[in-house]
Amino acid sequence: MLYLPSLLSLAIAAQVALATPLKSRTAYEVKEIHQVPRKWSSQGRAPADHKLHMQIGLKQANFDELERHLNEVSDPDHPRYGQHLAVEEVHNLVAPSEEALDLVHEWLMTNGISEFNYSPAKDWINIYIDVRSAEHLLDTEYSVYEHEDGEHLVRTSQWSLPKHLHDLIDTIQPTNSFMRSSPQSTDWIQFEDKYTPPGYKPPTNATIAKVCNLASVTLECFNTLYGTLGYEQKATLLNSIGFTNYLNQTPIRPDIYGFLKLYNPPAAPEAFTFESVEIAGGPAAQDTPLTPAQAAADDFSKEAVLDAETILGMTFPIPVTSFSTGGSPPFEPDLNSPTNGNEPYLTWVTYVSGLKKIPYVISTSYVDDEQTVPKSYAQRVCQEFAQVGARGTSLLVSSGDFGLGNEDSTTCFTNDGKNSSTFLPAFPASCPYVTTVGATQQFEPEVAAFREPGIGFDGKTHGYYASGSGFSYYFPRPFYQDQVVPAYVEALNGKYKGLYNPEGRGYPDIAAQGLYFAFFWNQTLSTTSGTSASCPLASSVLALVNDALISQGKPTLGFLNPWLYSKGYKAFTDITAGNSSSCGVDGFPVTKGWDPVTGFGTPVFPEILELLECS
Ligand SMILES: *[C@@H]1O[C@H](CO)[C@@H](O)[C@H](O)[C@H]1NC(C)=O
Ligand SMILES: *[C@@H]1O[C@H](CO)[C@@H](O)[C@H](O)[C@H]1NC(C)=O
Ligand SMILES: *[C@@H]1O[C@H](CO)[C@@H](O)[C@H](O)[C@H]1NC(C)=O
Ligand SMILES: *[C@@H]1O[C@H](CO)[C@@H](O)[C@H](O)[C@H]1NC(C)=O
Repeated sequence: MLYLPSLLSLAIAAQVALATPLKSRTAYEVKEIHQVPRKWSSQGRAPADHKLHMQIGLKQANFDELERHLNEVSDPDHPRYGQHLAVEEVHNLVAPSEEALDLVHEWLMTNGISEFNYSPAKDWINIYIDVRSAEHLLDTEYSVYEHEDGEHLVRTSQWSLPKHLHDLIDTIQPTNSFMRSSPQSTDWIQFEDKYTPPGYKPPTNATIAKVCNLASVTLECFNTLYGTLGYEQKATLLNSIGFTNYLNQTPIRPDIYGFLKLYNPPAAPEAFTFESVEIAGGPAAQDTPLTPAQAAADDFSKEAVLDAETILGMTFPIPVTSFSTGGSPPFEPDLNSPTNGNEPYLTWVTYVSGLKKIPYVISTSYVDDEQTVPKSYAQRVCQEFAQVGARGTSLLVSSGDFGLGNEDSTTCFTNDGKNSSTFLPAFPASCPYVTTVGATQQFEPEVAAFREPGIGFDGKTHGYYASGSGFSYYFPRPFYQDQVVPAYVEALNGKYKGLYNPEGRGYPDIAAQGLYFAFFWNQTLSTTSGTSASCPLASSVLALVNDALISQGKPTLGFLNPWLYSKGYKAFTDITAGNSSSCGVDGFPVTKGWDPVTGFGTPVFPEILELLECS
């Protein structure tokens, strides 16, 4: 397509030309091509007047420097360990250069775009334009794409920039990202339908046997297994924990109340008072029970309810914040009202990066196939997570519920248009600046979580469930994995060669229980499963660790992995068995030491405190 500026922007271009050199006129070249993922098909050109909230990611001037700070303040052997950065320090490190800002402004002005705003660090520019203008700006064509499940997105598979901007802009969205971060809770199953894993042996330890029941796993069981039972908090109001909601999910307070009333009565009133933050039009926490229409909608807010029940149940009275981010709205071709940012992760993380105080632990239970996200975008979102880590927050993310691949347990295809088979890593689980949490089941010993396909309480067929597992194609192995991951790969002895990236960031890092959590939703007790459950559970244990640290005047855990891989792993129970069958193969073996199914295993709270010298 030819680049045809409108008359108006030509006029502005003429003015700008007086002040600026020829650079603004460099020819457009393709900046990025990303295959349209499987299951999406084009339904034709997007309506010209459909509105887009476009986010332009400017190259951060000193990201390497930020990363150095992150690694130093997160390394227990470094003198700066725990000296987390203030918001201004982070913003100064990631701000783009003046030159980049000038040239990008000039480009927007010459295209008639004079209204924009910035992220707090000025590393993102937000503009609100229609498809026609976006097509001019990026020399591309947008289409409406439909997913097999009926969802629509307005996207393009490639976009271009004037040559002189290629090194100054990392990514622009929405263009070619098809990410749909979906919640990782697999099912909702009534007690009678329970699947008992083959070979299950009930616990013989009387303490565990008394409180841990496979059919409905409760807070008392978690507290017993992980050693948090009876811990008395001391730093309560100085501490904090949060969780994120996307896709219109939001906590349903009366359900959370019902759960706490059963399992942690003193916490119950908090169900109605914990903080709910709404970002970009995300829904507020709901004070009333589900309406019949809501209850009838598939999985309505189950993830948000699960996260809140687990976190409040485990950590009360630590102050809890729920973040509900709008975006990824249903695309309605006839509605030309402006829509929210379609990439809610980015919206959330840029919001949080601007806060003076961020909760010390934040749990996120949403993932998508890495391949649905263009590399440049995944890298930038991941870099934003690094900023949050540098501030002293531990970001925990579910590893996903589909083992090596996606919900089709037998076929795992890449996006290369040729139906090649590889394992499919998940994002943001694959980002090296987050701590990724896999799932376990059973108690003595805990093993990697796995469940055969079956029929749930809701009468629907549920696919298999295997704790998310793999190696990134986008992110190389981070330094902290240099000891354990090559050793694991070597021990595979060529198994699955060519189906995964042995040089990539392996995940998960740790694990926690993830089968048949007691769960209260629609005013009814049931159970639910998934790494979605494991992530808030592991987050809760770490928030209690922060309590001990804060109460002794020590810094919070912050970005966990450098500590975890050098020292912390000793305080985790190694998981050495279980099934990770997926993608039509047996899956990566669950072994002694780190493995890409359960990481270093499940937390042992008293041992973590001892290691950190704060018991
Ligand atoms: C039984 O489990 C509890 C809780 O994990 C533990 O404290 C206790 O030492 C165990 N008892 C035996 C005999 O292993
Ligand atoms: C939700 O609860 C109502 C009232 O008890 C019940 O009629 C309805 O069937 C429930 N819906 C689901 C999906 O469980
Ligand atoms: C890839 O697989 C899909 C679904 O099975 C099929 O429709 C398509 O034709 C295949 N494409 C190629 C290039 O084999
Ligand atoms: C894992 O599960 C798969 C699918 O149910 C089964 O075929 C396989 O035998 C199991 N492997 C182990 C080691 O239990």
